[in-house]
Amino acid sequence: EKGGWPSFMAKEIDEDPEAVANTLRGRIVEGRVALPDLDALGDDFFNDIHRIIIVACGTAAYSAQVGAYAMEKWARVPVQVELAHEFRYRDPVLDSRTLIVSMSQSGETMDTLMAVRYAMSRGAKTLSICNTQGATIPRESDAVVYTHAGPEVAVASTKAFLAQITALYLLGIYTATVRGTMTDERREELLTEFQTIPEKVRTVLGVRERIHELANWMADTRSVLYLGRNVGYPIALEGALKLKEIAYIHAEGFAAGELKHGPIALIEPGQPVFVIVPSPRHDDTLHPKIVSNIQEIRARGARVLAICEVGDAAVLPYADEVIAVPPTEPFFEPLLAVVPLQIFAIELATAKGLDVDQPRNLAKSVTVE
Ligand code: F6R
Repeated sequence: EKGGWPSFMAKEIDEDPEAVANTLRGRIVEGRVALPDLDALGDDFFNDIHRIIIVACGTAAYSAQVGAYAMEKWARVPVQVELAHEFRYRDPVLDSRTLIVSMSQSGETMDTLMAVRYAMSRGAKTLSICNTQGATIPRESDAVVYTHAGPEVAVASTKAFLAQITALYLLGIYTATVRGTMTDERREELLTEFQTIPEKVRTVLGVRERIHELANWMADTRSVLYLGRNVGYPIALEGALKLKEIAYIHAEGFAAGELKHGPIALIEPGQPVFVIVPSPRHDDTLHPKIVSNIQEIRARGARVLAICEVGDAAVLPYADEVIAVPPTEPFFEPLLAVVPLQIFAIELATAKGLDVDQPRNLAKSVTVE
């Protein structure tokens, strides 16, 4: 039930911290990732695979993309993400050393189910990451890792997205451990930081008031763009999807590096652009690049809405709005950065008087191909 919340979506965004905490619960044991659900795949499985393909649709494909960057980096195995409906009908090369991971909140999405069935028929192993106990996709897969976001009722996915990234990161750290590609020290550092994320997500939820004002002020906006790099790129795509879905506003996410290859032509005075800025503390490559992207669009009149680490002085002079998030590991930044974008979408839809739980033309579970 909705309890005191105006909508299920509002309630589910407020449950973002628990979605992460509950998906982690019981899975970090003595400085290691415990995923007994994977025993079904056999002892040497993760040493033998030579490729992982994650199949998913919509928001689940974006969480998959975030997780893929981390898994490939940590476990040194090629990981790609493919929209399930594209994968199914292109005659992909598959074999028993390919792991197909499906990502689905409902576990009933027909496009994803058909991709899983197809992969099995071609000899690949399948692992389901799912939020719904006993749904069709986990039942038919070789193994399952459940996300524990709790039931998601609003059509637009929010807390499940954070739980999906959490589960893939656990899988990534687990796989890296089995494959010997991550030091014990690094693993412990990541797992220690991981456990602080629910509290940090809760801190980020505190931006609601500010975003409420921003959204009221932007209620007539016709188009919003989102830019990110690396794990910030799928966050840009997810932010744009949320806005399209529930606020019916044209929105597009771009990899910031693509700007000069075309999309920068869209920038005209007043165009709002969210930019997901990675922490300046950890890297000397992505951060300056994003800052120069911000300068480029600002010079053409964009209204820059920056989501960045608290105290990021390089961004301040160029941003019209700064939404600050607590410092964390670069790979955990998406779990913080997505939250203001979820809030922005719901606040803007609410400012337009729309039903955020039941957006037009959409169903919670898409059970036809
Ligand atoms: C977006 C949204 C959809 C779903 C997609 C996959 O807010 O809800 O894009 O993410 O239809 O659904 P599941 O995860 O149930 O397979």
